[in-house]
Amino acid sequence: MTDVSAPGAPWWRSAVIYQVYLRSFADGSGDGVGDLAGLRSRLDHLDTLGVDALWITPWYPSPMRDGGYDVVDHRGIHPVFGTLDEARRLIDEIHGRGLRIVIDIVANHTSSEHPWFRAALASAPGSPEREYYHFRDGAGPGGDLPPNDWISAFGGSAWTRVPDPGAVTGGQWYLHLFSTAQPDLNWDHPDVRAYFESVLRFWFDLGVDGLRVDAAPGLAKRPGLPDHGFAAGDAFAPTAWESSPLWDVDAVHDIYRTWRAICDGYPGDRMFVGEVPVNGADRLARYLRAGEFHTAFNLDFIKVPWRASAMHAVVDETLTALGRVGAPATWVLSSHDEPRHVTRYGRRQPPGPRSTRPEPGPTDRELGLRRARAAVLLMLALPGGAYLYQGEELGLEDVEDLPPEVRDDPIHASGASAVPARDACRVPLPWSGAAPPFGFTAGPGRPWLPQPARWADRTVAAQDGDPGSVLALYRAALDLRHRLVPLAGDTFGWRLVTDGALAFGRGHHWECLVNLGGDPVPLGGEVMLSSGPLVPGAVPADTAVWVTPY
Ligand code: GLC
Repeated sequence: MTDVSAPGAPWWRSAVIYQVYLRSFADGSGDGVGDLAGLRSRLDHLDTLGVDALWITPWYPSPMRDGGYDVVDHRGIHPVFGTLDEARRLIDEIHGRGLRIVIDIVANHTSSEHPWFRAALASAPGSPEREYYHFRDGAGPGGDLPPNDWISAFGGSAWTRVPDPGAVTGGQWYLHLFSTAQPDLNWDHPDVRAYFESVLRFWFDLGVDGLRVDAAPGLAKRPGLPDHGFAAGDAFAPTAWESSPLWDVDAVHDIYRTWRAICDGYPGDRMFVGEVPVNGADRLARYLRAGEFHTAFNLDFIKVPWRASAMHAVVDETLTALGRVGAPATWVLSSHDEPRHVTRYGRRQPPGPRSTRPEPGPTDRELGLRRARAAVLLMLALPGGAYLYQGEELGLEDVEDLPPEVRDDPIHASGASAVPARDACRVPLPWSGAAPPFGFTAGPGRPWLPQPARWADRTVAAQDGDPGSVLALYRAALDLRHRLVPLAGDTFGWRLVTDGALAFGRGHHWECLVNLGGDPVPLGGEVMLSSGPLVPGAVPADTAVWVTPY
């Protein structure tokens, strides 16, 4: 497979990377949970799709209290997913196909069942074991109140109180910016730093091409852990915070400079992609300065409403801010954390420039799908790299009517978070057949989240060979992109910006025109690819085209 990049540019500057949410991709063992055997058996799908790399969500031993983002052993594979030997074989097979592999690194916190945390709980306040985490005495009489006002991303206080060893009540509090099962590590401790440096080396030695850094702005905390100044009922909204003591603290950059130096010691263009939800493109760009991450997800783009002005602003801000530090943009429409974009775009669009969640109300799936088809042509024509989330190539929407008893997301369990539970976007993929489990599992086990019967026409098998399918659109777009990006390089220029439509050019050969719900827009070139039916000489609402300009 040829690299999609300007001649000589490293692969990650323009790669299209497919996110594999392992539990829900394909199940080879037959227990109803996706695994490495399932993934290995379905690599043909990714090859045919035409992506450049895979990002695999955490595959480590874990009690799975947060879908595997609660890690017990950072150098192992969870038995439900397979073995380390299988992971080695998978890495070789991916490379054998000319693809690359990125894995998750979760360093803000461990699982509460990590040996370090167990030892900390079994040790007295003030002991060296407790220094690996943030343990503090409580405030108020008897230490009954949390040590400060910090809140958790999953709702409620970021502190939980634990009894001292041998006691039943009382005791210190520990910090967890996510669920109670994910205690935050103390990154001022040299052992914590050394441990993760060895973890990075372990996976780079095994041949992974990149690491996705989870919750990247969280690792460093302001010394003394002062109050943030939250008011009762405030939500965890780091994209709105300025100068917070718990997030995006400047000291975090020292950690990533050390990591980058380790990465640069390996041959073959290894890379980091950061999950960096911070306040604006300029703060994001700080993580992409020379000597830090190579790329970071564009988490503004994943939240932008389907409106020309908002879309225009986010693209402009991103390219301007990242251009200043010489970093490529990395676009993303859906992930395992956010509502799928068919659902997002099928709702009433929020008024502001960004929205952390879809507006309440019914989803118009037809409309959402038409916009989603246009959106992927928009995204894949932008300069930089892009991430696809498994199932978007099938046009899947969120499964919003999952019965409460099957829901697994700790956000759901806490009930206190403003973020919608994420199970809806994590339902196992439909591969073939007319009824659930749609070829997802090879055995008697039922998919760990139930698939809706209506997915019968969304399976890979049902769409394969249908030129009008979403799958056909993705394949055609990725194929064309492979040919166009080397010609276009990093070039970009707006050609049309109106209330209803956007058009931009990528060199002399490629222009993308998107109608985001306005009147039909006249075509300015010869159509190479269209997201939907055109009207004579024009592009109708909620449709995008790639053209060769006249
Ligand atoms: C990231 C992950 C998310 C996880 C959280 C805590 O945001 O993408 O799934 O819950 O970090 O690790």
